[in-house]
Amino acid sequence: MSSRSDLTIMRVCFIIFLLGVLVELCDGGITSEYVRGSDLPDDMPLDSDVFKVSPGPNTPQQVHITQGNHEGNGVIISWVTPSAPGSNTVRYWSENGKSKKLAEATMNTYRFFNYTSGYIHHCLIDDLEFDMKYYYEIGSGKWQRRFWFFTPPKPGPDVPYTFGLIGDLGQTYDSNRTLSHYEMNPGKGQAVLFLGDLSYADRYPLHDNNRWDTWGRFVERSVAYQPWIWTAGNHEIDFVPDIGETEPFKPFTNRYHTPYKASGSISPLWYSIKRASAYIIVMSCYSSYGVYTPQYKWLQKEFQRVNRTETPWLMVLVHCPFYHSYVHHYMEGETMRVMYEQWFVKSKVDVVFAGHVHAYERSKRVSNIAYNLVNGLCEPISDESAPVYITIGDGGNSEGLLTDMMQPQPSFSAFREPSFGHGLLDIKNRTHAYFSWNRNQDGSSVEADSVWLLNRFWRAPKKTMVVAS
Ligand SMILES: *[C@@H]1O[C@H](CO)[C@@H](O)[C@H](O)[C@H]1NC(C)=O
Ligand SMILES: *[C@@H]1O[C@H](CO)[C@@H](O)[C@H](O)[C@H]1NC(C)=O
Ligand SMILES: *[C@@H]1O[C@H](CO)[C@@H](O)[C@H](O)[C@H]1NC(C)=O
Ligand SMILES: *[C@@H]1O[C@H](CO)[C@@H](O)[C@H](O)[C@H]1NC(C)=O
Repeated sequence: MSSRSDLTIMRVCFIIFLLGVLVELCDGGITSEYVRGSDLPDDMPLDSDVFKVSPGPNTPQQVHITQGNHEGNGVIISWVTPSAPGSNTVRYWSENGKSKKLAEATMNTYRFFNYTSGYIHHCLIDDLEFDMKYYYEIGSGKWQRRFWFFTPPKPGPDVPYTFGLIGDLGQTYDSNRTLSHYEMNPGKGQAVLFLGDLSYADRYPLHDNNRWDTWGRFVERSVAYQPWIWTAGNHEIDFVPDIGETEPFKPFTNRYHTPYKASGSISPLWYSIKRASAYIIVMSCYSSYGVYTPQYKWLQKEFQRVNRTETPWLMVLVHCPFYHSYVHHYMEGETMRVMYEQWFVKSKVDVVFAGHVHAYERSKRVSNIAYNLVNGLCEPISDESAPVYITIGDGGNSEGLLTDMMQPQPSFSAFREPSFGHGLLDIKNRTHAYFSWNRNQDGSSVEADSVWLLNRFWRAPKKTMVVAS
């Protein structure tokens, strides 16, 4: 806009450049000097514009979509009708298609203490064409609502695709800034990898599930038009035996469906999908994962199923990070790391995304898998087969940012900063992907941290590696 903001952007770019040079020169990572306000963010009040109910009696609300099958040409369309079952049908058609097709949803309601949900509809459509714009309509008569989405290209090794990354979002003014910032990012995310902790309704007395409804209305403006891939976080557990609520994940699993059966999982909390050139494994750190458990057995087979010729980019999403250096939640992911890090290294996972820690951090490629109780080898070491671990639990929820860090910065940590923001993973082809992180306080095209990722399976021989790690 103004030359003043151009100047600011140039300065920021210059600082980023300097930081980049520092990363090259020093062994230790960067702790950003950026200073932001420390006030706890407030939830947006119930009468906020973002929570507005669409006009009309019993009009569908909280519309959201997610991937519906393993290959990517399926979608699950979900919505809530508040006061009556209403129409259970989705009408959909492709941009160049002539006739509208119909699909029927399933419908469910649930109770949580003295809260009764609206009528929750989930409609699976899994026979779509790849790489196509589709329109869909829900509701009936005068008050029906129309939306659209794009299916991804068919999985293939050099299919470019851009994922947004958001975690721990909640429903504060900062949450709204994060979402707006993501929407304005010129990098144009095509689907969101959501790293767990959605509504934070559990922060309210009796886990007031009306705050699940407001969250659904808040994010509709994005998730009705592009799929969000769900990871379950601790704020989805909603386990409150004191008030008789003993079924973990009840609100989440009633409201948010995942295509878990398509990947042979028995739980909606852990599953995998292919999308364009990516193979995405979603893990649940709040479900059992010890040896012999269903998640363990599933995951063991899962890594064997990945075909890097078809989907070169292997990514894992899990709410609790394996590597981060903030004081809060330190080592909470340790038991899971001890179990599964060796598989990640063996399978050459490219990147692991986590939330939970309300801050941003990116690791170097390290592993810590040599220890066997007696050999004393218990420090992370540089490892070219290891993933980069990115913690991005900084969506903006009411618990605020975590600013206390382990000092000095551990050698595994490449960059860390407690600011709200979102990430973007821009896959270019089978060898190159560009990851960037944007803090909310900067212009939408300013990257506060970024890195080229070279695919672990297809990467070029070492001597040709210049910038990428
Ligand atoms: C549920 O119980 C709480 C606490 O007793 C009360 O404030 C609230 O109004 C009740 N809600 C409904 C829908 O009955
Ligand atoms: C949320 O963000 C949108 C888009 O930037 C804006 O129109 C809206 O007024 C914001 N609402 C609140 C409550 O901050
Ligand atoms: C892996 O995918 C490629 C490309 O789709 C295919 O040609 C090949 O047969 C697959 N390999 C296996 C073992 O399925
Ligand atoms: C892959 O993408 C990178 C970054 O855009 C580019 O430099 C490289 O030439 C591409 N590789 C191929 C084989 O096109």
